[in-house]
Amino acid sequence: MSYQFDHQWHQERARLAALESAFDPWSKRAILDTNPQPGWRCLEVGGGGGSIAEWLCGLVGPKGEVVATDVETKFLEAINADNLQVQTHDITKDPLEESAFDLIHIRAVLAHLPQRDAILRRLVAALRPGGWLIPIVTDFSSVRAVQAPEREIAFFDKTFASVIEAARVTGFDPYYGRRIGAILRSLELKDVCVEGIVFEWDAGHPLAALYQKTFLRLRDFVVSSGTLSEEEFERLQGLMRLPDFYGLSNTLFLARARTVIA
Ligand SMILES: C[S@@+](CC[C@H](N)C(=O)[O-])C[C@H]1O[C@@H](n2cnc3c(N)ncnc32)[C@H](O)[C@@H]1O
Repeated sequence: MSYQFDHQWHQERARLAALESAFDPWSKRAILDTNPQPGWRCLEVGGGGGSIAEWLCGLVGPKGEVVATDVETKFLEAINADNLQVQTHDITKDPLEESAFDLIHIRAVLAHLPQRDAILRRLVAALRPGGWLIPIVTDFSSVRAVQAPEREIAFFDKTFASVIEAARVTGFDPYYGRRIGAILRSLELKDVCVEGIVFEWDAGHPLAALYQKTFLRLRDFVVSSGTLSEEEFERLQGLMRLPDFYGLSNTLFLARARTVIA
């Protein structure tokens, strides 16, 4: 099994929009912390719905360029920007330009792909001297219910964790976020900086929509594998819609580091 969330599902753009709504402010902050300049050439890997690719196009201006890649590019193709180049590209195996980019942003992609460590090494080679690598990587150990009836707290914590653990069979690493700093330090990079963001969320938060849509997508697998019964699955989904339920999110690790100028 591999990446499970193709773009053909009728709710996939909405699922990606929920992710963008929660995480874009933090990606933008991590990018702005590198002091980006007009004219930069940027790479957005696994660009998905394209919100960061589109924002980068404005940031680098007409003298700059943004290359946005994905295995499926229909959402990226819909962006209207003269300095955007969209490429159908599999980051696990397709050729990648070397010493070509001032900044590379890759968010919510690495944890899904078993080749994650090798991908990071390829991305370092794709950077110009002094270029910035910005991996945004999640870690699911922080997810838990914080406000709900006592028995629902225990039920949520157990069943949410079971679904996340079961997803490992697809090659997904739910705990990659905590390793990102060590991996960046093992590469030829400097100025490594890692921060983690945890959100408190309720039914109205975009993360509730992201979790519900993601689980809906995994429903057949979750039930057929015996991870959860149909009743448990519906109860978990229902909890995330309750007005008085509050949870803590997965941790969003914002990492950045840059190549050494020879
Ligand atoms: C969870 S989505 C995140 C999208 C976007 N990076 C964001 O954070 O808004 C993961 C994206 O990675 C893409 N993807 C999956 N496998 C890939 C691969 N081998 N090479 C490039 N992109 C891939 C998917 O098609 C999807 O658009």
